Parts: sequence; structure tokens; C-alpha cells
Amino acid sequence: MNRSRWKHIMMESGLCIDSPRLLDWILGRPWAQVAAFRFLRLRFSPNILNNALALKTEVQEKSRLFSLSMSYINVGDTYKTTGSNRTQIADMAVSDLCRHTNTPRILEVGASDGSSAAALLENNKLFSDFILTDRFSCFFKHDFFLGTIFYNSNKCLLGFKLLFFYLNLSLETPSNCDDLPTIETVNPLIATKHNIKSINHFNILTDKFAPKVDLIKCANVLNLSYFSEDQIRQALNNFKASLTPNGYLVISQNNDKYADGEAIIVLKNTDQGFEVEHEINGHDLLHFFKTANSK
Ligand SMILES: C[S@@+](CC[C@H](N)C(=O)[O-])C[C@H]1O[C@@H](n2cnc3c(N)ncnc32)[C@H](O)[C@@H]1O
Repeated sequence: MNRSRWKHIMMESGLCIDSPRLLDWILGRPWAQVAAFRFLRLRFSPNILNNALALKTEVQEKSRLFSLSMSYINVGDTYKTTGSNRTQIADMAVSDLCRHTNTPRILEVGASDGSSAAALLENNKLFSDFILTDRFSCFFKHDFFLGTIFYNSNKCLLGFKLLFFYLNLSLETPSNCDDLPTIETVNPLIATKHNIKSINHFNILTDKFAPKVDLIKCANVLNLSYFSEDQIRQALNNFKASLTPNGYLVISQNNDKYADGEAIIVLKNTDQGFEVEHEINGHDLLHFFKTANSK
């Protein structure tokens, strides 16, 4: 195991209670956040998702607590942070493009629990199909005496929970997960309202979507803190191969450094490559693309 793996294990392992209500209570109190996350090293395993689903409360509240829980799950280099209505500028751009395209098929990549697609899904007359995907689209679990072993959707060992301690290993060697029960990642509100029973598996670094779609939304996934420049180019090639000619890619990032807390780039899939149709708030990845003024 290399140094970065050890560092990951040290950072992402710790006390683990997996209570969505406790997490909600902590997040409402800055002093509790410092105590819980910094001093007690509170971490969360995928079991918190099943605990959120088992809550006896109405579906809106369950959905909120599910997304909150999802946002604290770490897999490898990424967190599954999400929430509804966070990508409003991107959603407006996607809606506009839908009005100019004849009921497109839309693919959302890195969708986490699907909440970031909630606003668009409400407008279901705008598209013919909306496919939610993520690289870590479910978890496998194996319960044993006093604990649970978790695997990610690639069937690689994610970690162990033993009583109240979670060891997050995030290894990359596949195991045999046949017959193990899964923990689904789709938000309960998305599941009930839109009849979407699971998030589909799609890795932006390795996969091409078929049959091709007319529009791809990629929010809070493609950025230089998760991926190297080469990996971003690889993902862009995969997006290009997954889009119909003249289809669109909408890249969005939420960050307080951007005006309105969000920056987007709208790209058209042309014979010459991706061309910037428009951009808002100067997204960090703009330099990857040709603009109208580029030579
Ligand atoms: C920060 S969350 C963003 C979730 C959602 N798009 C949003 O804006 O609320 C990043 C998501 O990207 C997913 N992800 C990480 N690497 C990925 C990859 N190579 N391919 C597809 N999804 C990936 C993670 O599992 C996670 O759910």
C-alpha cells in the first residue's frame, strides 16, 4: 500500500454511528461539527443510507436526510455530496436546450442520489428519457458478527464497520460480490415521484454511453481537484462519443468562489470538437475548449 492510500485510510476512518438524525443535529451546530468531525473523527458508512430509508417520517424529510447522509459518504477520491436545487444555472441552460431540441434523451453523470436532477425531472415534458448514472451507483454489503464489510459498485472492497468504528480502505481490487445484498443510492423522493428504482453505473473515465444521448449534464464531477488534466480530456472524449452530432454537454460546478455560487459551460458537439455555446461565471475548465474568439 502506498503513502496516499495510508493517508486516505487515516483521513476517512473513525468513529461511526450512521444516524441521519444525529448528522442533521451536528450540522446545525458549528461547535458540534468541530467536536464530531475534528476531535471525535466521526465518519459514515453506506449503512447510513439504509438507516435514512428506515426512518418513520414523511417522504420529503426522508429525502432530505437521505441526501444529507449521502453527502458524507466517501468513496476513493470523491465524496458523494449532493442536494436538490444546487445547480440552478445549469438546469436553466438544460431546460433552454430542451426547448430547442425535439424531446431529447438526457444523461446525467456523477448523479450521486439523483437529487441534483430533481428540478429537471419535474419538467418531464421537456425530454423523452432522463438517465441517472454514477460510477458508484450502489454498494454491496456483507454482514458478519458485530460488523459489516462494504464493497463499491465495482465490487472493490470499500471498508469494514466493526461495532462503532469504520475503516475506509477504498481498495481497487475486485472481489466476488455475487449474492450479496445491495444498498441502492437513489433518493427515495426521486424513486417514488419519478419511478426511478436505481442509479445506473457509468464511469466517465472509461465508459461510452450507448445508444447516444442528445444532452449530457455533468455537475460537480469534472474538476481539477478530482481529476488530472489527462483524465479530464479522457472524460471529454467519452462524452463526445456518447453524444449525438450537434448534441450538448453542460458542465457545472458549485463553488463559493464563483458569482452566484455556480459556473457553467455549455458545449456543442461539432465535427471539429466541443465548441463553447456560452459560459457563465468563468468555470475553471474553460481553457480546455475553443471559444468563438479562439484561433
Ligand atoms: C460531488 S458529487 C456530485 C453529485 C451531483 N452531481 C451534484 O451536483 O449534486 C460527485 C459524484 O461523482 C461521482 N463520481 C466520481 N468519479 C466518477 C467517475 N469517474 N465517473 C462517474 N461518476 C463519478 C461520485 O460517486 C459522486 O456521486
